[in-house]
Amino acid sequence: MTGRVEGKVALITGAGRGQGRSHAVRLAEEGADIIAVDILEDISTAAYEMSSQADMDETVRLVEALDRRIVPVKADVREPSQMREAVAKGIAEFGHIDIISANAGILSFDQEDFQAFTDVFGVDFLGVVNTVDAVAPHLTEGASIVITSSTAALMENTVEKIGPGGMAYSSAKRAAARYAHDIARVFASRRIRVNVIHPFNTNTRLIQNDHIYRLFRPDLENPTPEDAIPAFEATSPMGVPWMEPVDISNAVLFFASEESRYVTGMQLRVDTGQMLHLVEAGIPG
Ligand SMILES: NC(=O)c1ccc[n+]([C@@H]2O[C@H](COP(=O)([O-])OP(=O)(O)OC[C@H]3O[C@@H](n4cnc5c(N)ncnc54)[C@H](O)[C@@H]3O)[C@@H](O)[C@H]2O)c1
Repeated sequence: MTGRVEGKVALITGAGRGQGRSHAVRLAEEGADIIAVDILEDISTAAYEMSSQADMDETVRLVEALDRRIVPVKADVREPSQMREAVAKGIAEFGHIDIISANAGILSFDQEDFQAFTDVFGVDFLGVVNTVDAVAPHLTEGASIVITSSTAALMENTVEKIGPGGMAYSSAKRAAARYAHDIARVFASRRIRVNVIHPFNTNTRLIQNDHIYRLFRPDLENPTPEDAIPAFEATSPMGVPWMEPVDISNAVLFFASEESRYVTGMQLRVDTGQMLHLVEAGIPG
């Protein structure tokens, strides 16, 4: 039996760790070769460190262990020229790109520095546009673009309260979701699909950091992950604190495969029912 994305090539941003690494592994398990893009250096206003070269080496090891090929590329999604170079490296190796996972994203908790807005919006929205722009000339019929937004795009007054970086996070994720809708219309006649995933809390560095624990437990000075778990769980109708990256990867795989060949412009919540809760409270989502 062939894999669900056998013979396809996927370009994944933010593939050094977390969800991006999980997408690389899940797609490779189903037969894809991978172009793995990551910045591999820190962003000063981000609340935690970015992936390292060692992280990327581990992504490479995991994909190669599945007998798939992988081209790792150090590039910043905010820089169109770096993204064009990344695509050129991938095309030189594989000759085609069939799947885009525009996944790279950051969150900042800086309360003061306006640069935090610029950095978060730059990665989480402009980075998505740059990624699609760089790959678009190579996309052919049957290609699939999958954009990672967030349930933060669907609700008001959540991460906005953490300062300019939080505001930018909501703005960028909303803009990315709308952008996907608009380019889905542009690409549909070429049978190229564009879909969005809105994850709830997912077990990666983006939520596993002291800033997030304090956001969820403002009553404690130095909350531990264990202190934060009940507060995380309270936001999930299913009562789980967070999902695992593979829960998102399985949705990416569906959108990437021919199984969804007539599905485009969709906004898929993978959210343990989080938005059901908010819709009941009268907040659109
Ligand atoms: N973890 C969650 O709870 C959650 C929830 C909803 C949405 N998301 C979104 O999921 C996506 C993946 O994040 P994650 O949870 O795996 O977090 P993560 O921090 O583990 O991974 C993000 C990756 O993106 C890379 N990256 C950051 N800036 C980059 C840039 N400018 N260029 C290239 N690579 C860059 C980082 O080095 C890192 O490897 C992000 O878009 C995030 O906003 C996460």
